[in-house]
Amino acid sequence: TKPILYSTISSFRKFRRNVSPTQSIGFVPTMGALHEGHLSLVEKARHHNDIVIASVFVNPTQFGQGEDFDKYPRQLEQDSELLADYGVDHILAPSIDDMYGNHHATVVNVKGFDNIPEGLARPGHFQGVATIVTKLFNIVQPTNAYFGQKDAAQCVLIQRIVEDLNMDLTVVVMDTIRESDGLAKSSRNAYLTPIERQAAPVVYRSLQTAKQLFDQKPNASSAELVAATRSVLQSEPLVSEIQYISIDSKDTMQPVAQPKAGAIISLACKVGTVRLIDNIVL
Ligand code: PAJ
Repeated sequence: TKPILYSTISSFRKFRRNVSPTQSIGFVPTMGALHEGHLSLVEKARHHNDIVIASVFVNPTQFGQGEDFDKYPRQLEQDSELLADYGVDHILAPSIDDMYGNHHATVVNVKGFDNIPEGLARPGHFQGVATIVTKLFNIVQPTNAYFGQKDAAQCVLIQRIVEDLNMDLTVVVMDTIRESDGLAKSSRNAYLTPIERQAAPVVYRSLQTAKQLFDQKPNASSAELVAATRSVLQSEPLVSEIQYISIDSKDTMQPVAQPKAGAIISLACKVGTVRLIDNIVL
């Protein structure tokens, strides 16, 4: 059966009010342009909940000046078909006006996230994510919400909000889904030209180099591991900018000087003009 599409928050609420409290709700928030990464979250949600809800909303407040908000791929029809194939029951796809009507003034700001590497690279991004995810959680009131490790800092951010604001839901983090050559699946991979696409797996290779070094030399410093990662990235001429390479605590995403197993090495770089992020757990 096809999922029901709600294009307004009020129509969604009418449905939501009638869900029995005995039914579990699995929720997958997305910005659409769905790929196997998103669909792995849906699959997990389908497996563990009575009702599965996905949202498709390209959230303007998490995009900075000069970022790709305008050109972000929008393909709700195709996304709805994929979500139908994966057994989603309900799709919430509100307009920007509905989400941020008239005099919207409330934001959710999780302290410290504007100072982690990804936050410094994208001022305002995490406030935008924190605000929209809080709004979506208030609308959907899920039992379980599913996020991808691909966006490691986002997962830590959401977990922080749920704990700090006493939200009654469980955050489930799923592994990064990759192409066969290692490139992390991303809606933004569509921006890569064919030669850039061929070069892009260097991102994952550079992270694997750090992991191998860490496995051989568990007392290696972050500086050493980052240098090894950087040299692999720099060996690819199409890598036009390295924004950061950082080793961070898995609990706070704050940089650590001396990594322990479980720390996260993450990076952001541009391949041509396309910004890519990736991370692995040491
Ligand atoms: P979006 O980039 O569409 O991603 C939706 C979810 O899919 C996120 O939890 C993201 O981490 C996950 N995801 C993306 N690529 C993945 C991959 N290769 N493997 C596994 N999971 C992957 O993240 C957002 O949207 C937004 O910030 C959102 C949370 C919807 C708030 O606007």
